[in-house]
Amino acid sequence: MQRITTAKEILKINRDLRNNGARIGFVPTMGALHNGHLSLVKRAKSENDAVVCSIFVNPTQFNEPTDFQRYPRNLEKDAELLESVECDYLFAPTASEIYPIPDQTHYELGSVSEELEGKHRPGHFNGVASVVKRLFEIVKPDRAYFGLKDYQQYLVIKNLVENYNLPVEVIGCPIIRSEEGLAMSSRNELLGKTEAEHALKLNESLKRAQKLIEEGKPTQEVESTISKDLSSQGVDLEYFEIRNAGDLSKPDNSSQSLVALVAARFGKIRLIDNMNLTSN
Ligand code: PAJ
Repeated sequence: MQRITTAKEILKINRDLRNNGARIGFVPTMGALHNGHLSLVKRAKSENDAVVCSIFVNPTQFNEPTDFQRYPRNLEKDAELLESVECDYLFAPTASEIYPIPDQTHYELGSVSEELEGKHRPGHFNGVASVVKRLFEIVKPDRAYFGLKDYQQYLVIKNLVENYNLPVEVIGCPIIRSEEGLAMSSRNELLGKTEAEHALKLNESLKRAQKLIEEGKPTQEVESTISKDLSSQGVDLEYFEIRNAGDLSKPDNSSQSLVALVAARFGKIRLIDNMNLTSN
């Protein structure tokens, strides 16, 4: 695996790859890699001739300074993990490489960006759009791989690509969970043992919602039953909502494809999870 830190180096590699007719797969990350990230690299490997993984803890998408400061960083371990799945290029730029001039742009990302995470983390998706657009401009991939773990982010990126005509195919990949069911996340390393056990309630609540929906219970009833349950179990809940999977609008009787999305805090750590309720 070749390590790269500048946009200029990538440009050269990109030219060489293109001259050889290679297709480039791209996996953007913020590092502290786990099997969720590695599943994206493996998928990209299987569908492209060369894979670039970026590691950049993007300051503009953090709406809480303490979250940015404590975000886990371990580049050497990450590089080893990427080697183990035969990633071809690791792009680990500095902030000034990504933002030579601060990006003040307001991105149009559609109504999907305003709900849920958009409401609870003001400015978050604008920061995500800013860095992903910049990374796409530098890496120029044919395909980019995103986890459905961040389901709303995936929909926002699809809107970004469509609205700004970015020549990239966006591919959503399944959520990877621990054996106990906790969705893998870089922030999981920051959980204490009790918090990590408590966090299993998220996946349990999503599975329960899936069952209740299958039994024909109305979405609002399911939302309120599960929210009350989580709160009574001491979970510091931010939201538990059932939405249309296509655009995260509120469901009605004709809704075909539903997703449940949850966000909660365990100690100082905020986690999100989701589950498609109508497939599986
Ligand atoms: P990060 O949280 O590092 O995640 C990088 C990619 O890995 C995202 O597409 C995310 O959805 C995916 N991912 C994380 N956990 C996963 C899991 N358990 N199963 C499957 N995929 C998983 O998301 C970001 O970084 C940033 O916002 C980024 C897009 C890199 C922009 O800065």
